Amino acid sequence: TIFDTPEEGCRRIAHSIATTIREKQKTGEKAVLGLATGSSPIGVYQELVRLHKDENLSFRNVVTFNLDEYYPMQPDALQSYVHFMQEHLFRHVDILPENVHIPDGSLPIEKVADFCAAYEQLIEEAGGIDVQLLGIGRTGHIGFNEPGSGLTSHTRLVKLDALTIADATKDFIKEEFVPLRAITMGVGTIMKARKIIMMAWGEGKAPIVRQMVEGKISEEVPASFLQQHERVTVILDQWAAAEL
Ligand code: GLP
Repeated sequence: TIFDTPEEGCRRIAHSIATTIREKQKTGEKAVLGLATGSSPIGVYQELVRLHKDENLSFRNVVTFNLDEYYPMQPDALQSYVHFMQEHLFRHVDILPENVHIPDGSLPIEKVADFCAAYEQLIEEAGGIDVQLLGIGRTGHIGFNEPGSGLTSHTRLVKLDALTIADATKDFIKEEFVPLRAITMGVGTIMKARKIIMMAWGEGKAPIVRQMVEGKISEEVPASFLQQHERVTVILDQWAAAEL
């Protein structure tokens, strides 16, 4: 679906997520959301906060799993995805802290593998992800699944691509401050979500959006695996859609 502006696209996505939350609430179930960071979802979170304040959208029955976190990263650092999520969504709504899950970038290296296995387990125990929100990196990554990430990859420690590090420099002042690694849900973890909403805004994303939607399915563009998912909606603005 192509919108004139990112704002319209973000509103559409937020309303779709709100519908899932409300439907689950009616049946007394928890809504399990897979959440993304980066600049792309900020407008989605703004609209969700507005719906919470103006239209009684409650997050008390919502469980969230974030896609990824830099490694190493302290949760209270300004660039952490923990901080990002608090600032843009969690501190403005009534979500219960025990229902929020974000990969822990502060663990010692020898504990990371067990943490990743436990993260997968927690998603399973929550009943699986109902809606997974995704942005896309210019390398074709989803979460931090860089080129070379396989279809069945799971939550794990990965190395960031040089282009991803260059793109992240705006948040870290200097390139040398950008962590070289991250903990990310795998492509396989993402593909298990019952519904996926992928968003991209701006002309900088147009070439990779074309590869994702119309290109060959391959590990070279991990987002291309989404072509094999049964319920994925791609929401674009006119500029991100310009090369389709
Ligand atoms: C980071 C995140 C991704 C996100 C990507 C694009 O790498 N780990 O989940 O999709 O950035 O970021 P932006 O939305 O700022 O373009």
